[in-house]
Amino acid sequence: MPRLTIIPSDIIIDAEEGATIMESAWAQDLYWPTTCGGQGICTSCVCKIEEGAEGLAEMGRSEHKRLVEEFGEAAVRSRSLRLACQARVHGDVIIEKRGVRPAGQWLLDNPSQRW
Ligand code: FES
Repeated sequence: MPRLTIIPSDIIIDAEEGATIMESAWAQDLYWPTTCGGQGICTSCVCKIEEGAEGLAEMGRSEHKRLVEEFGEAAVRSRSLRLACQARVHGDVIIEKRGVRPAGQWLLDNPSQRW
């Protein structure tokens, strides 16, 4: 089972083979920033792959197009950016993404977002 390490919060989770990074986080009841709900539109979920980029499925055309539109080709290539809602996991990966935390903690920090 692939293992995801999320920094700087130092959260380590096991991921289902073939699930996206975001699906893997949600399965562990983690909050992951998004405004489109994981549809590959908003880029709020963007993360930097620190190690193990080969443990992710190759970037699809729509993910690449959206990242280049938002951050530019050079930034996408040099910073190992991926959309967490689109990148499918097949091996161990170390990911930098600020704001990832247990979902319950996020609700405590944002009481107006409760429903
Ligand atoms: S969650 Fe919106 S692009 Fe990934």
